[in-house]
Amino acid sequence: MKWEHLLAAAEESRCHAYSPYSRFAVGAAVETEGGEIFAGTNVENRSFGVTLCAERSAFAAAVSAGHRRFRAVAIVTASTPPAAPCGLCRETMIEFCAPEMPILLSNPEGERRVFKLGELFPEPFRFPAGGTPPR
Ligand code: THU
Repeated sequence: MKWEHLLAAAEESRCHAYSPYSRFAVGAAVETEGGEIFAGTNVENRSFGVTLCAERSAFAAAVSAGHRRFRAVAIVTASTPPAAPCGLCRETMIEFCAPEMPILLSNPEGERRVFKLGELFPEPFRFPAGGTPPR
């Protein structure tokens, strides 16, 4: 996996973080099955629960453009070691991505960690095979 373009998109988006409350900027980028890249950053709100994470922001952009299959995600924070995505974002990823999908975690110091989605979110909720949501 070549991470350079995806990582650059996540880094750039992180520069646009709206995080006046936490002062914690996050950048994320997703790569579609066809190789397109969509990025997102965290968008906070004075009503804290309204805050949108960078990862879900990136997925929302990609899905809004018609994409539903993804092959990689990159996330950039200033944490050491590079921070892993929150539970809501893991749940969002498993909606659209295979457990084998690689997730790169990076920071401005150049530290990198790569996980498979299935490692970060091993037992997701699933509807019964062939089933639809109960009415
Ligand atoms: N944040 C993300 O953007 N992604 C995560 O996976 C975890 C947290 C943001 C939300 C908030 O703006 C700030 O980081 C601190 O929680």
